[in-house]
Amino acid sequence: MAASATGSGPLTLQRVGILGLGAYVPPKKLTNSDLEKMVDTSDEWIRQRTGIQERRILEKSESCSDLAIRAAQAALADARCDPLELDLIIVGTVTGDYPFPSTATLVQAALGAWNAAAFDLSAACPGFIYAASVGTQFIASRRYRRVLAIGAEALTKILDFTDRSTCVIFGDAAGAALLAPFEECRRGEILDVDLYSRGGQPELLYLPGGGSKNPTSAETVGKNMHYLRMSGRDVYRVAVETMGDMVRKAIQKYGKDEVALVVPHQMNRRIIESVIDRLNLDPARVMVNIEQYGNTSAASVPVAFREAVDRGLAVPGKIVLLCAVGAGFTWGSITLRW
Ligand SMILES: CC(C)(COP(=O)(O)OP(=O)(O)OC[C@H]1O[C@@H](n2cnc3c(N)ncnc32)[C@H](O)[C@@H]1OP(=O)(O)O)[C@@H](O)C(=O)NCCC(=O)NCCS
Repeated sequence: MAASATGSGPLTLQRVGILGLGAYVPPKKLTNSDLEKMVDTSDEWIRQRTGIQERRILEKSESCSDLAIRAAQAALADARCDPLELDLIIVGTVTGDYPFPSTATLVQAALGAWNAAAFDLSAACPGFIYAASVGTQFIASRRYRRVLAIGAEALTKILDFTDRSTCVIFGDAAGAALLAPFEECRRGEILDVDLYSRGGQPELLYLPGGGSKNPTSAETVGKNMHYLRMSGRDVYRVAVETMGDMVRKAIQKYGKDEVALVVPHQMNRRIIESVIDRLNLDPARVMVNIEQYGNTSAASVPVAFREAVDRGLAVPGKIVLLCAVGAGFTWGSITLRW
C-alpha cells in the first residue's frame, strides 16, 4: 500500500523512474500506393512532404482499447510486474472506444488490474507526455508506487478517406510506460516535466461533431463533422516553433553533449528536420520512425521511445528528451536520465 502524502511532517519528494516500456502497432499496413487508389495523391508527394511511407490501420472490428491493452501488457512484461500491483492507469487518447466510460477502465478490466484507479486524459498528441507527467506526480508525492501511462490512438477511425490533406498523415498505435519509485528501476529517472497549452483556435485541428457543441445528428453526419479536420500549414508553424523551444530548453539546461537522444512526436519528417537544422543537432541523436507508422498522435512518442531503446540509442547516464505538440494547442516534454 502506498504511503500517505498527506500525513504530518514535510513531504520529501520521491524520485521517479521507468520500470517498463511497451508498444503495439496493428499488423495491417496501409501503404502510400494503397492511398493512391483511394484519393488523388502520390507516393512521391507523401514521401516528400511528410516522410511517411506506410502506416498501420486497425481492422473494422477493433478499437483503441485493443491497442492500449497490448501496449500495457508489453510494458508490464518488460517490468515483470503483476497487474494487481498497479495503482493507477492513465490513457492519453482522443479516440477512445466510447465518449464514456474511459478506455482506461477497459484496459483495467482486460489486465485484471483490480487494485488500480483508471481514467483517460485528453491532450491530443502530447497525451502520453501529459499522462506520464500526471503519473509522475502521484509517485513523487508517494501516493502511488506503480502507474501505467499509456498513449493510444485509433485515428484511422476518424479520418475522412476522401480528404487527401489528412488521410495520408495518420495511423493507429499505442505505447506505454510503467512508472515506479526510481530506486526500483534500472533506468530512466524523470528529471523534468514541462507542460504548455495555448487555446483559442480549436478549429485548426479538431473533431467538430459528436461533442456537446455539435451533438451527433443527421445534419452533423451529412456535413462530415465526425472526421478530423486540420489546417496543416498553421499546425506546421506551431509545431516547428514549440518543438524547437522544448529541445532548446533541454540543451540550455543540460548541455548539447549530455542530450544523447531526442524522441520527438512523429508528425512530419520535415518538422523534425527543421528542428535538427535550426538547433544544429546530430541527426543520429534524434529518433525518427515516421516512415513506418505515420503520425500516431498520443502513441507516437512512446512507440518511438520503445524503438529507440531497442536500437540502443538511449545512452546510460545521459539525457533523453521526449517532446510532443498537438491539437489545442497543447505541448509538453519529459526529460529523463537513462
Ligand atoms: C499536411 C502537410 C503535410 C501539408 O503539406 P504542405 O507542404 O503544408 O502542403 P499544403 O497544405 O500547403 O498544400 C500544398 C498543395 O498540396 C496539395 N495536397 C495536400 N495534400 C495532398 C496529398 N495528400 N497529395 C497530393 N497533394 C496534396 C494541396 O491541395 C495543395 O495544392 P494547391 O497548391 O494546388 O492548393 C503539412 O502542412 C503538415 O505536415 N502539417 C502538420 C500536420 C500535422 O503534423 N498534424 C498533426 C499535428 S499533431
